Amino acid sequence: MVFDYIDGAAGAETGAARNSAALEAITLRPRILRDVGERSLATQVFGTKASRPFGIAPMGMCNLAAPGADLMLARLAARYRVPLGVSTVASTSLEKILEVSEGHAWFQLYFSGDGAGTFKLAERALEAGYETLVLTVDVPEVGRRPRELRHGFKMPFRIGPSQLFDLALHPRWSLNTLLRGKPVLANFELEGYDFDRTESRARATWDTLDRLRDLWPGNLVVKGVLDVEDAQALAAAGVDAIQVSSHGSRQLESTPPPIEMLAKIRAELGPNFPLFYDSGIRSGEDVLKAIAIGADFIFLGKILQFAIAAAGEAGLERLWEAISAELSIAMAQTGQSKLTDGKLW
Ligand SMILES: Cc1cc2nc3c(=O)[nH]c(=O)nc-3n(C[C@H](O)[C@H](O)[C@H](O)COP(=O)(O)O)c2cc1C
Repeated sequence: MVFDYIDGAAGAETGAARNSAALEAITLRPRILRDVGERSLATQVFGTKASRPFGIAPMGMCNLAAPGADLMLARLAARYRVPLGVSTVASTSLEKILEVSEGHAWFQLYFSGDGAGTFKLAERALEAGYETLVLTVDVPEVGRRPRELRHGFKMPFRIGPSQLFDLALHPRWSLNTLLRGKPVLANFELEGYDFDRTESRARATWDTLDRLRDLWPGNLVVKGVLDVEDAQALAAAGVDAIQVSSHGSRQLESTPPPIEMLAKIRAELGPNFPLFYDSGIRSGEDVLKAIAIGADFIFLGKILQFAIAAAGEAGLERLWEAISAELSIAMAQTGQSKLTDGKLW
């Protein structure tokens, strides 16, 4: 059930397949004899140094992958000085994650209901010390993911008869998770905060964005953008960055491949507008492809949770090192010493 929650995509999952095919079809330009003996994976994001051009996408209920997963990700963000997205529906409180990540956390906001709770949560994040707010706009209604529906997966996480059967078949996960306490929607444990995953998120408008822009003095990112006209309107509305993403193909099955939309949005907004990318990144070469297509910064999603589920914090570190090594080698092959070294394709 938990694997299918993390891995599942919308509908018959053709969107996810289309994006991997599009990523696969991109080729990099091999270059020779350019002294690439010293290479740096470092970059800057919102004026802050990051030791990698990739960070951690916001994901709800990570502690389902393994107990303590949120804080493993927070320590990773602190070690590598990269941004960590903290979901509205995170399984550890936004305050705790900000502390453990040593300030490298960005708060991800979902609009919900009439918006009252949403703005309250944004104010709480501001008070906690968050500098970057990521508004996710591609979930006006939660997408239908057949794998979740089949298991009766619910958030807050509930254990009924069919879940009990699943738990019995996976004793290691069950004992570990149940001993450490059932994962909760931690930002809603405080009195006065309430979240219903099934409540419609459909009532957000461009006015909502304007209100948020007025409220939020720091960096405002809008995540889940796949349309050139929307991207133009967002730039005009004064957002600080756009995150091109199909939510890992978890919402609408029939989106265009987000990696293709990244190229189109970059062409429209010009070379200087900050563009981030996530969805379908599986290797260091994929990271380099997204940079070649026009992303300034990349976010990794479900693969981080798989690494944690497979081998805990050590597994997460190994995956991170593997992606870093793949990126570094791909940079050597394409003649890049730095990530800003020139044309890659
Ligand atoms: C299990 C899971 C939970 C997620 N929860 C959220 C969330 O709460 N908020 C959000 O903006 N995106 C969420 N996402 C989407 C990610 O931020 C990101 O867009 C996506 O995972 C990238 O695709 P990838 O997993 O193929 O790398 C979630 C993704 C996964 C896999």
